[in-house]
Amino acid sequence: MKGSLEIRRLAKSYHSAVAVREFDLHVQPGEFVTLLGSSGSGKTTTLLMVAGFEEPTSGNLILDGRDITRVPPNKRGIGMMFQHYSLFPHMTVEQNVAYPLKLRKVPKAEIRDRVRDALALVELADYASRYPTELSGGQQQRVALARAIVFRPGLLLMDEPLSALDRGLRKSMQSEIRRIHRNLKTTIIYVTHDQDEALSMSDRIVLMHDGEIVQVGTPTELYDSPVNTFVANFVGESTLLRGVVDASVDGGYRVKLDSGELVACDSGRSFERGDAVVIRIRPGQLSFGSAELGAQAPPEGIEARVEDSAYLGDHWQHTARTGAGALATFLENTSRGSRVQVGQRVRLSWLPSDAILLQA
Ligand SMILES: Nc1ncnc2c1ncn2[C@@H]1O[C@H](COP(=O)(O)OP(=O)(O)OP(=O)(O)O)[C@@H](O)[C@H]1O
Ligand SMILES: [Mg+2]
Repeated sequence: MKGSLEIRRLAKSYHSAVAVREFDLHVQPGEFVTLLGSSGSGKTTTLLMVAGFEEPTSGNLILDGRDITRVPPNKRGIGMMFQHYSLFPHMTVEQNVAYPLKLRKVPKAEIRDRVRDALALVELADYASRYPTELSGGQQQRVALARAIVFRPGLLLMDEPLSALDRGLRKSMQSEIRRIHRNLKTTIIYVTHDQDEALSMSDRIVLMHDGEIVQVGTPTELYDSPVNTFVANFVGESTLLRGVVDASVDGGYRVKLDSGELVACDSGRSFERGDAVVIRIRPGQLSFGSAELGAQAPPEGIEARVEDSAYLGDHWQHTARTGAGALATFLENTSRGSRVQVGQRVRLSWLPSDAILLQA
């Protein structure tokens, strides 16, 4: 199967500034891999080197067993789609999609068939003779997608292809891209700084920061087992509580939080007494009661004062400040009727097995 890419110690410096360092990754044929990271973390630079538009300072690229590091972009057979999809305005939809095939000198009759198939795949069969200005943003994006896949590349690169679209359109294009990926089984390297998009679309996520890979893993691995507080903070909403390991107990540790409270936390990793740690808890894993409940509340808990409440349809998302100044995020079902008020003191608790202990 085509579309296996080995990226070996790929690096790029501009003068003295390092944009990407020692990037190592083996992308499997048919895999959907997302580079996720904040602005300036090196995502686009990495993609441009894979495409051949930026020359690496060092490192190698092996596509289907062939070293393509010095191969010009048009000889790599890689499909590409960028944020600014740059359709040719003077060409119809059909001509736009046919363009990569013309470049490759594909016979006319075959071009016609393949363009028709590609437009059918993105559900634009009836738009072949329109010009780009006669299309909506989402339709233009689908033409760009058809143009990127029409020559059946084994590897498709996509750099923030949906960031110009509004939320609704972005959601439907996300499932469109997933559907097309399932149909074509093309390897995709996708770039986004949107963690929800990365979590919902990818087989694996490469989380980047400052030109470096911080963690590579499936969406569940990044969400459930972050390697450090950076990942815990970046992927998904969470409450991060700082403290120090006080004692080791059955299957975990007792942690003294900065706020002075003692809580239990299971952990697969080993820590020493006195280690500075951070406890990570997901919003849905924090349950709450009124602070006045006192002794009735479970022992693993902290007190906090609610500072903000956001209505999210089926639930409220509350943010509360702990005694140590940390922000805790928890959910409340809207069907409960009464609701937590801003300014109210709450006792937040969790199961020791739901919390993750990370090195501070
Ligand atoms: N041509 C260039 N010359 C000098 N520095 C550059 C050049 N291109 C990128 N950089 C720098 O390299 C770093 C990585 O940039 P890159 O465009 O890869 O980030 P990115 O992760 O794609 O960010 P964004 O999410 O904003 O698109 C940045 O610090 C950027 O300023
Ligand atoms: Mg970029």
